[in-house]
Amino acid sequence: MSAEQQTKQLIETLTAELKQHNYNYYVLAQPVISDYDFDIKLKELAALEKEHPQFADPESPTQRVGGEITKEFKTVKHRWPMLSLGNTYNEQELLDFDQRIRKAIGDNFEYVCELKFDGLSMSMTYENGQLARAVTRGNGVEGDDVTTNVRTIHSVPKKLSHGSYPDMFEIRGEVFMHRKAFERLNNERIENGEMPYANPRNFASGTMKLQDSAEVARRPLDCFLYFLYTEKQVFKTHWDSLQAVKSWGFHVSEHNKLCKDIHEVLAFISYWEERRFDLSFDIDGIVIKVNSYAQQEELGFTAKVPRWAISYKYKAEQAETILESVVYNVGRTGAVTPVANLKPVLLAGTTVKRATLHNANEILRLDLHEGDSVYVEKGGEIIPKIISVNTAKRKADAKPVEYVTHCPVCGTQLERKEGEAAFYCPNDEGCPPQIVSKMQHFVGRKAMDIDGLGDETIETLYQRGFLKHISDIYDLHKHYDDLKQMERFGEKSIQNMLAGIEKSKQQPFEKVLFGLGIRYIGETVARKLVAHFKTVEKLQAATFEELTAVDEIGERIAHSLIEYFEGEKHREEIVKLQKQGLQFAAEEKEVVLQSDKLAGKTFIISGTFERSREELKEIIEQNGGKILSSISAKLNYLVAGDNMGPSKLEKATKLNIPIISDEELLGMI
Ligand code: IVH
Repeated sequence: MSAEQQTKQLIETLTAELKQHNYNYYVLAQPVISDYDFDIKLKELAALEKEHPQFADPESPTQRVGGEITKEFKTVKHRWPMLSLGNTYNEQELLDFDQRIRKAIGDNFEYVCELKFDGLSMSMTYENGQLARAVTRGNGVEGDDVTTNVRTIHSVPKKLSHGSYPDMFEIRGEVFMHRKAFERLNNERIENGEMPYANPRNFASGTMKLQDSAEVARRPLDCFLYFLYTEKQVFKTHWDSLQAVKSWGFHVSEHNKLCKDIHEVLAFISYWEERRFDLSFDIDGIVIKVNSYAQQEELGFTAKVPRWAISYKYKAEQAETILESVVYNVGRTGAVTPVANLKPVLLAGTTVKRATLHNANEILRLDLHEGDSVYVEKGGEIIPKIISVNTAKRKADAKPVEYVTHCPVCGTQLERKEGEAAFYCPNDEGCPPQIVSKMQHFVGRKAMDIDGLGDETIETLYQRGFLKHISDIYDLHKHYDDLKQMERFGEKSIQNMLAGIEKSKQQPFEKVLFGLGIRYIGETVARKLVAHFKTVEKLQAATFEELTAVDEIGERIAHSLIEYFEGEKHREEIVKLQKQGLQFAAEEKEVVLQSDKLAGKTFIISGTFERSREELKEIIEQNGGKILSSISAKLNYLVAGDNMGPSKLEKATKLNIPIISDEELLGMI
């Protein structure tokens, strides 16, 4: 092959590879390489294209800001294009940036330094102080209208209450998820056999792509605002605009800093290099902006990025170490999670001994072999990840890591459901870690909240044969004398424990239902199910259609419930718990009538509203109205919010049922 042909091929390969990475990043929200590696490759391609323009693909990733538009949302054109920023990775590149600016506008200017939040950018338009529209960056020119999703973010004001803001303005910021929330929700996903997100950014962007804003609301997102656009210039500097938007009620980072020269900028960068891990959210660098708007205008833009701003990207901290073994943890639902044991290595100030591997796909993706030398990286997460393998160091006879076929604890053959990433141990009745963690979940604070019965006690009582099923907890009092004989079990602590167990019988049905640990039945779903079906008998008898007719109960949840109640052992356990005095029916809240303005009228509430549906329901009942469970000719009104299911709308329209807003409902009383 001639040298020219080789170059052509290299450009083609790089182009295809980068297109795939763009797709992974923007569409799937599951990137497989770091931003740093992406930028290196992009720069390599740009250099090759510059030298050999005849081989450049007109659709080359170097020619676009990136991003694909998802089909489901309305596409909206940005009034001001959403540009990206140039990246720098070292001091010299920053000094060059500073030189370019000084050449253009002289020495008399200031910089604003900001954290570079690692989330997804969002553009929000406010009209007369009200949030009118929120649009993702998309391809920079047009993006998705995700207003209903953004409305669920608490730190984004829906309505501005104070300050003298312009009638119309656009404000840009970064939507992100705090690390704590990410870890909590990701663990839930792993438990549920769902694909965990690689990092908080992917979780945030995956969340914004959801069509169901109620699910979005369940995933706590936050948003830092960092740029204001107005039709007429209101402020002279970026710094002043940041102070102003803060006073209008927007969330602006307290760490922004006004710097008088590039040396102060460099000091800011090194200050945050270490401290970034102490923040509650991820940042991947620092953004540096020229402060004066007049000077920004003077500097202008290149084809893709502003000349007055740039980002400095931190390199993710990596270390190389040896994979010693892969062990498998069995969770409450039987999901088996692989964990890598590593030769201890120092990384970002802590010694790392383990890394998560998530699931079997991850082992395949890494093509992990026994004894491999691996690169581990620490984002903000507590447990680091294996990023890649140093294959050059692999021994010729090293065997690939084979995912276990049988449960490492009870030996049962593992199963994988279609479309799911995790393998499961199906022996939920006999597999010790599943039994123990089910009981630990049951007594937990969010479920039965039993004081005096901690995780370790459960483990011990299980090993001694006192606990096998959840219902055994309520028989523990029968073993009082035996318990007293056990070491470390004082009389006082036994009494405490028994009192806690007795008290837990008063926990409402929704807590009991959540405590049973049925797959996909989290706290919110449990609450919804109890509010709808009221008793365990009705819930058990519900058909697939009846279950999925309940707002926010999808097919996956319905299947899981049906499968659970089909288990004879499960039904027996419920009967036993009922006999022991636990709550299996909704508490009938006494309705205090405030008026009879809605007497004889029936309602269904559907969609999302500013106030909760529970609240609306209460208002209807307090005024004599009745809530129905499904749309029929008997229904008088359908109260519709955002994102109501299309089938409900269709049915109500067919039956000529008036569809009213929550405001109209309030107007009726
Ligand atoms: S300013 C023209 N400020 O970084 C100005 N961007 O690489 C554009 N980002 O698309 C953005 N923190 O999603 C700005 N403090 C900050 C930022 C920030 C994070 C993101 C943003 C942007 C990307 C550019």
